[in-house]
Amino acid sequence: MNINEIRRKFPVLDQQVYGKPLVYLDNAATTQKPLCVIERERDYYLHENCNIHRGVHYLSQKATEAYEHARQTVADFVHAKEAREIIFTRGTTESLNLLATSFEHLLLSTSNSQLKVLVTSMEHHSNLVPWQQMVQRHHGQLLVVPMDDKGVLDLNRYEELLKEGPKVVSIAHISNVLGTINPVKEMVKMAHQYNIPVVIDGAQSIAHHPIDVQDLDCDFFVFSGHKMYAPMGIGGLYGKADWLEKLPPYQFGGEMVDTVSFEKTTFNVLPYKFEAGTPNVGAALGLETAIQFLQSLDRKEVEAHEILLLQKTIQQLSEIDGIHFIGEAEQRSGLVSFVIDGIHPYDLGTIIDKMGVAVRTGHHCAEPVMTRFNLPGTVRASFAMYNTMEEVDVFVKAVQRAATMLR
Ligand SMILES: Cc1ncc(COP(=O)(O)O)c(C=O)c1O
Repeated sequence: MNINEIRRKFPVLDQQVYGKPLVYLDNAATTQKPLCVIERERDYYLHENCNIHRGVHYLSQKATEAYEHARQTVADFVHAKEAREIIFTRGTTESLNLLATSFEHLLLSTSNSQLKVLVTSMEHHSNLVPWQQMVQRHHGQLLVVPMDDKGVLDLNRYEELLKEGPKVVSIAHISNVLGTINPVKEMVKMAHQYNIPVVIDGAQSIAHHPIDVQDLDCDFFVFSGHKMYAPMGIGGLYGKADWLEKLPPYQFGGEMVDTVSFEKTTFNVLPYKFEAGTPNVGAALGLETAIQFLQSLDRKEVEAHEILLLQKTIQQLSEIDGIHFIGEAEQRSGLVSFVIDGIHPYDLGTIIDKMGVAVRTGHHCAEPVMTRFNLPGTVRASFAMYNTMEEVDVFVKAVQRAATMLR
């Protein structure tokens, strides 16, 4: 893999901050965008901009075709059976709010038993708060799968909780704090034995690991474009067609309707039923280009590179006195979270920023994980295809220097 060639495709990386070369290790928050993605979105606004699905004229038809082509590309990328199983959303958060709201309406009209939803103890707030608010509105219950000190889910407890009758299971594929890759395929299989649908939060997995929703057999899979080299403001929701047919719409307005009178409205077919209003067409086309960019690479090689970066980082950081890693599962993805005795993560992050190193500090939108490990926050370095071994050296030296200064 030629990293220099890859880096040349990401102009933003080639800059200095505070007089030092930028070392960007905040990829779990958002990845940088390659030129081809930026140009695709720009081209749309330069030559193709038009509202879709509504006009008979040339530009509108062209934009509509491009948008629907992007949908097919996403469907192929996650190996969905049909393009209508892909709903474009603003991202993971909107996809999960859509699901929580639609399930709430569906379940209230079809079931009398207590509303329970099962999540895990390592969820991002986006996969926790929408479900929590939904069950609380109906005096229901959020069931939570615990994890051990290494950040591995307790599957025996999961099985017990499945027996308590949750209506939906919603689980992170990869934890954005711990890096744990959860055994989602197995967890889907277990939930299906009790006829419970499963949502997978793929925000942290889709850029780094090939996704096959049919193989996983999940009922829903949600993701954000901006974490997979695509623009912000676009993402998706895969849902099995049967489920999407059953769920009521989430938002109402133009495009999602079939017929409207003052007395009654009937809804459009999939996927339009879930896409009210004007979508972010330019970003959807950028997402398609990001997917084509990923497909142009040897993804196994990219994955192996990111794991090597992770291993080298862990090995070098381990030599720092008083360091503790948060998340030490065997099945790990390319990010590392840690704390150093006596040093606040925020102070460490601020000092290494001045050395040109961008990492994230804090609770990473997963406060219950911090509570579980009794921490105010962690420092998190997360990798992408364009990071180099030299950047790992710069990062580790920066942490060592900051630790010396702060102690
Ligand atoms: C695991 C996980 N789920 C959900 C989200 C929310 O993603 P977004 O802010 O793009 O909607 C994130 C973002 O960091 C995440 O890491």
